[in-house]
Amino acid sequence: MNYKESDKVIDVAEEITNDVEKLNKITYRFSKIGSKPQMQKTVVFEELKKVTDYFERRLPQTGKSVELIIEGDKEVCAEMNPELFEWVIENLIKNALDAIEEKTGTIRIGVSEVKKNVNIEITDSGKGIDLKRRKDVFRPGYSTKRRGWGLGLSLAKRIVEGYHGGKIYVKSSIHGEGTTFTILLKKC
Ligand SMILES: Nc1ncnc2c1ncn2[C@@H]1O[C@H](COP(=O)(O)OP(=O)(O)O)[C@@H](O)[C@H]1O
Ligand SMILES: [Mg+2]
Repeated sequence: MNYKESDKVIDVAEEITNDVEKLNKITYRFSKIGSKPQMQKTVVFEELKKVTDYFERRLPQTGKSVELIIEGDKEVCAEMNPELFEWVIENLIKNALDAIEEKTGTIRIGVSEVKKNVNIEITDSGKGIDLKRRKDVFRPGYSTKRRGWGLGLSLAKRIVEGYHGGKIYVKSSIHGEGTTFTILLKKC
């Protein structure tokens, strides 16, 4: 209450509330692994927006100036467990941020309808993935990071393919230019 800039105190307090919600979410997610998650019809764009909004707030703390863009079909809907889907997208965005070694960069998420599927593409302007490694990246324990666990993408694969009957793969990658991951989910 004595703090000179009371607005900032309120901001921080709100952010703490967000953090607590976030921790709840993480607990919930772990409780869902191994059990049958509930599926619901979800507007994909809106779900993605929730994740990017979260990152937008946190980006300033990374010291990088990365532009996060979502574009495409705002209506298309997929049968999904939103909590687990958010987890997948978070992992992909985190990896994209790690891959961007320069001070500035872009992460672009595109949503479209392709036949019976919703196609989600996540493209970063990062350092790229060696073509020979594009399957290995989904292997549990595979990491090229000094402090990496190598679990993010294996979890993403399990969620997308195991729980949702979808597909996730490296669509393309160019050394020094960037990478695109594709996720396919069944349209509702
Ligand atoms: N967008 C990306 N650009 C470049 N390399 C990536 C990207 N996403 C994943 N990778 C590679 O795949 C590896 C595995 O990723 P992940 O399973 O999330 O584990 P971790 O992030 O802990 O290393 C990373 O260490 C990295 O080498
Ligand atoms: Mg990761």
